[in-house]
Amino acid sequence: MKVRSILFIFLLYNVVDVNQCRDDCNTPLHMACHNDHKDIVSLLLKKNHSINVCNKKGITPLFVACEKGYTEIVEALLERNADVNISMKDGKIHLSPLLLVTEKGHYSIMKKLLEKNADVKFHDIEGFTPLLVACEKKNNIEMVRLLIKYKANVYMRTYTGASPIIFASSHGNIEIIRLLSEYNADINSGVPSVQQYARLKSKEYIFDVMVGSSPLHIACCLGHFEIVECLLQYNAAVNLSKEDGTTPLFYACKLGPDSIVRLLLDNGADIRLCRDDGKTPLAIAKENGHKYIEM
Ligand SMILES: *[C@@H]1O[C@H](CO)[C@@H](O)[C@H](O)[C@H]1NC(C)=O
Ligand SMILES: *[C@@H]1O[C@H](CO)[C@@H](O)[C@H](O)[C@H]1NC(C)=O
Ligand SMILES: *[C@@H]1O[C@H](CO)[C@@H](O)[C@H](O)[C@H]1NC(C)=O
Repeated sequence: MKVRSILFIFLLYNVVDVNQCRDDCNTPLHMACHNDHKDIVSLLLKKNHSINVCNKKGITPLFVACEKGYTEIVEALLERNADVNISMKDGKIHLSPLLLVTEKGHYSIMKKLLEKNADVKFHDIEGFTPLLVACEKKNNIEMVRLLIKYKANVYMRTYTGASPIIFASSHGNIEIIRLLSEYNADINSGVPSVQQYARLKSKEYIFDVMVGSSPLHIACCLGHFEIVECLLQYNAAVNLSKEDGTTPLFYACKLGPDSIVRLLLDNGADIRLCRDDGKTPLAIAKENGHKYIEM
């Protein structure tokens, strides 16, 4: 007979203490959740297994089921009022069930957690909320829509200052940009200044372009024509300068394609704005071999 069937019979006849736990403080409920044993989970719950127990890492059975993406088990736990907000903390990792399933892309579980009032404002130690995580991923429009429905804050930024729109712009996610704009997310919300950035961010994360950039700067830099077009439709500031005077036009002139330069010019980009080093967009275009850019 399989271990699982034996455990099942033991439980049925009250031979074991359901709340007994291992050295790592994993309980039978943790194990059953981990292994997707729905029948055992439901039996343990009928036997009043304590539901919000944490193992040594602060992980609840609900968290385990969320991690594995086992929707039915999550449902069973939530029916018994498992606490949706108990987060785990292990060194630098700090995760709530909702943040975890957003990262994993488990949409149906996310929906169930939100229906049970999971905390949409929770953030990890870098300031990532579920909405920021969803915007950082590709093609996650449904998740973003759901989080906004549950009042996720579209203005909330990471500690380094990245906003939902910045992530959507850098990942080329036009649908998310449109959605966020409909909810009045600030289209020009830039990454903070160099000083702020350096203070906030660890060395290994230096990404010069991002520093001080608006979503439009980033989209020009990455050459995402449709994103540039979309941002301009939502009135992104075409003449916005970074600390060193770089406007979006400078990135377009440096990196092309010319269609983006044309688009910026058609939207009134100022060709006379110089960088602090005195260079004009035209000079940058020439330096980078874009000879046919005429302004
Ligand atoms: C579980 O708890 C409920 C409510 O407190 C109680 O009525 C029931 O007898 C308990 N069941 C077992 C198996 O302990
Ligand atoms: C979870 O957190 C949210 C936001 O703080 C709160 O509204 C909700 O009541 C909490 N749910 C539980 C079960 O504690
Ligand atoms: C950008 O600057 C140009 C030149 O000064 C100006 O004509 C244009 O209106 C500005 N565009 C915006 C959106 O401010």
